[in-house]
Amino acid sequence: MLRQLVMHAPRLFNYTSRRLAHGGCGQILITRAYSSAAMSPPSKAIVYDVHGPPDTVTKLVEVPAVEVKEKEVCVKMLAAPINPSDINRIQGVYPVRPNPPAVGGHEGVGEVLSVGSSVTSLSPGDWVIPSPPSFGTWQTYIVKNENVWHKVQKGVPMEYAATITINPLTALLMLEHCVALNSGDAIVQNGATSMVGQCVIQLAKSRGIHSINIIRDRPGVNEVKEMLKNLGADEVFTESELEVKNVKSLLGGIPEPALGFNCVGGNAASLVLKFLRQGGTMVTYGGMSKKPVTVSTSSFIFKDVSLRGFWLQKWLSTDKAEESRGMIDRLLSLVQEGKLKYKMELAPFDDFSAALDKALGKLGSQPKQVIKF
Ligand SMILES: NC(=O)c1ccc[n+]([C@@H]2O[C@H](COP(=O)([O-])OP(=O)(O)OC[C@H]3O[C@@H](n4cnc5c(N)ncnc54)[C@H](OP(=O)(O)O)[C@@H]3O)[C@@H](O)[C@H]2O)c1
Repeated sequence: MLRQLVMHAPRLFNYTSRRLAHGGCGQILITRAYSSAAMSPPSKAIVYDVHGPPDTVTKLVEVPAVEVKEKEVCVKMLAAPINPSDINRIQGVYPVRPNPPAVGGHEGVGEVLSVGSSVTSLSPGDWVIPSPPSFGTWQTYIVKNENVWHKVQKGVPMEYAATITINPLTALLMLEHCVALNSGDAIVQNGATSMVGQCVIQLAKSRGIHSINIIRDRPGVNEVKEMLKNLGADEVFTESELEVKNVKSLLGGIPEPALGFNCVGGNAASLVLKFLRQGGTMVTYGGMSKKPVTVSTSSFIFKDVSLRGFWLQKWLSTDKAEESRGMIDRLLSLVQEGKLKYKMELAPFDDFSAALDKALGKLGSQPKQVIKF
C-alpha cells in the first residue's frame, strides 16, 4: 500500500474537481476542461518534500496536467528502477541532486503518448529512455524536451530498457576506459551480485577476460555462486572464504588481476587490493557498506597500487551524451541477443512502498526492484 496520497492543486488549466464518495484519503477526481491535444494527462508521482529516510519522506502525489509545448514530448512511463543513487538523492547525500520538492527516480523507459507541433524525431507509440539519465522518472507521465529522449527498439524487454542507462553503461565504461585489458587478463570485483557486478562479469567474459568475484556471506550462498558462474564468473568467493594468508593461492590458473572494481568499501575493498598484481589499479565506484577504503602502507610501497574513482555522471557531462547513446544501443543489442542479463524483480507502482523497503535492504539481499507503472 502507498503510504500517503495527496493532491496538488492544478495550476496551469481550468479544472473541476470533486471528492470521491468512497475513495478515502481525500482523493480528488480531476476533469479536464481544455483541449487534450496540447496537454499531458494528470500524473501520479513519488515525491519528497524534504531530504531524509526514503521510507518516511516519499509519498504519492497527483500532479496536474501540463502543457506539451512545441518541442516537447509527453511520455507515459512503463518502468523505472530503484537504484542506490536514487536512495542517496532522497537522503540528500548524493553530490548532484534536485532540490526538494522533487520526483524520485533517474532512469526508466516509457512510451510516447503525444508530441509537440515541432517534434520530428519521435512519434506516439515509440519507446524512449531519458538519455543521459535525468531526474523524475518515478511518475506515470513525463513531459520533457524532445532531445532528452532516446528512442529504443520495442523488442527489448521493458525492464532492461528501463535499467540500461546507468548500471550496464557503468560496467562497460569501467571495463573499456580504466586500464587496457587483453583477452586472457583478469579483473577482480566486490559487490559482484550488484547489477553493475553482473554486467562486469558478462562483458568481461565476452572479451575473454577472467573475473574473480567477491560477495557477502549470506544464506543460500551456493545458489548465488552458481547464478554468477552461469553468467560467466570464473571464481566467486565470500568474504569469509578469503580470510586466508595468501588469497592468490586460490586463483589456480587465473592470472593476477591488473584491475579491481570496488563498490563496497571497508574489508571488501581490502580484499580487492589483496588480489591485485604488482602495479594494479583499483577503481572505486560505490560505497555500499558506507565504510572507508583503507589501504596498507605496504600496498603502496611494495605493490605500487593505484587508486582511482569512476563516476558515470562526470563522464556523461564531458560532452559524451551522443557516444553514450551508441553504447546504450550496443548494450541493448546484447540484451536482445541473450548475451547480457541480470536479476530484477518487477514491482507494481501501487506497491511502491514494498519495493522501496526491498531496495533499502530491509528484507536482506534482494534483486533490483523495477517499478512497473
Ligand atoms: N559511480 C558511478 O557512476 C556508479 C554508477 C552506477 C552504480 N554505482 C554504484 O554501484 C553500486 C552498485 O549499484 P547497483 O545498482 O548495480 O546495485 P544493486 O543491483 O542495487 O545491488 C546492490 C548491491 O550492493 C550490495 N550491498 C547492499 N548493501 C550492502 C552493504 N551494507 N554492504 C555491502 N554490500 C552491500 C548488494 O549485495 P548483496 O547481494 O550481498 O545484498 C548488491 O551487490 C552502488 O554503490 C551504486 O551507487 C555507481
